Amino acid sequence: MTNRYVFPHKDLLGIEPLSPQDITAILDQAKGFEEVCERPDIKIVPALRKRLVVNLFFENSTRTRNSFEIAEKRLSAEIINFDADTSSLSKGETLIDTALNLEAMHPDLIVMRHSAAGAHALLARHMKASIVNAGDGAHEHPTQALLDAYTLRERFGRLDGLKIAIVGDIRHSRVVRSNLWLLTKMGAKVTLVGPPTLLPMELKETWPDVDFSFELDPVLPHMDAIMMLRAQFERGTGQYIPGAGEYIRYYQLHAERMKRAKKDVAILHPGPMNRGFEITSEVADGPNSLILQQVTNGVPVRMAVLYLLVVRQGEHHPLT
Ligand code: NCD
Repeated sequence: MTNRYVFPHKDLLGIEPLSPQDITAILDQAKGFEEVCERPDIKIVPALRKRLVVNLFFENSTRTRNSFEIAEKRLSAEIINFDADTSSLSKGETLIDTALNLEAMHPDLIVMRHSAAGAHALLARHMKASIVNAGDGAHEHPTQALLDAYTLRERFGRLDGLKIAIVGDIRHSRVVRSNLWLLTKMGAKVTLVGPPTLLPMELKETWPDVDFSFELDPVLPHMDAIMMLRAQFERGTGQYIPGAGEYIRYYQLHAERMKRAKKDVAILHPGPMNRGFEITSEVADGPNSLILQQVTNGVPVRMAVLYLLVVRQGEHHPLT
């Protein structure tokens, strides 16, 4: 890559619009910021000084929200946290009205999580600020897929040719959709595993090269990495499975089942985990787990996204 690379998108709405070059640029930029995050003393750079970032979280979040806020602080941005509970939205103001009012205050970046798939695309059309999708319904969660990719690339030195199983509640997961875009664009081989009720076959239409399996055991020995997904009970997952015992029997990642996997297999989970349901603590906290490394990597990856969007703004609207 040359120094002249400029991120070509105004917003990060998902992984779908990104090219492999864009993805590599974000991961490479994140590598530079990792060095900042690991400094023993002051972990701050001035890259977003005097830039205003609004964090708009309409859905619960611990990891993602904190990770974005830490990333913004490490870049020296000015931060406004918009609280959806106390906002005028609870008085019935539409999302567009809220957005236009925010726009009137000229923020540079808006980081948003919203339960409606496509809410970000709608906002992006109405706003000059760059919109970063921190999760929209069951649609996309691009920074999660980017930090997953960063973690895998760090562990294996590449994404191309890696064999990765994504296991569990595929139906309700935005993490899986962003990962499908990213991993297939970067040449990894993905196998989706889950019970038939949670594994929508329509995904084949968009990702024809992805393998599907209703069984985990025969897939395990071939995988370089296994990404476990949270069973999203708040989105009704309970109605799709006959019972916890049955799910655990076929899909839980536990120590006994791990014996079938490669010795150095990498275990990922986006969190929050249902310990004792999709994964046991023994595996989640065991030697193959990269789960906390994913959380660590989330900060430099989000710094990279925010930074590349702001650099692009500078290119397209030169600052005085
Ligand atoms: C994911 C999310 O919210 O989509 N979590 C996260 O961002 N760390 C996955 C999940 O909720 O299961």
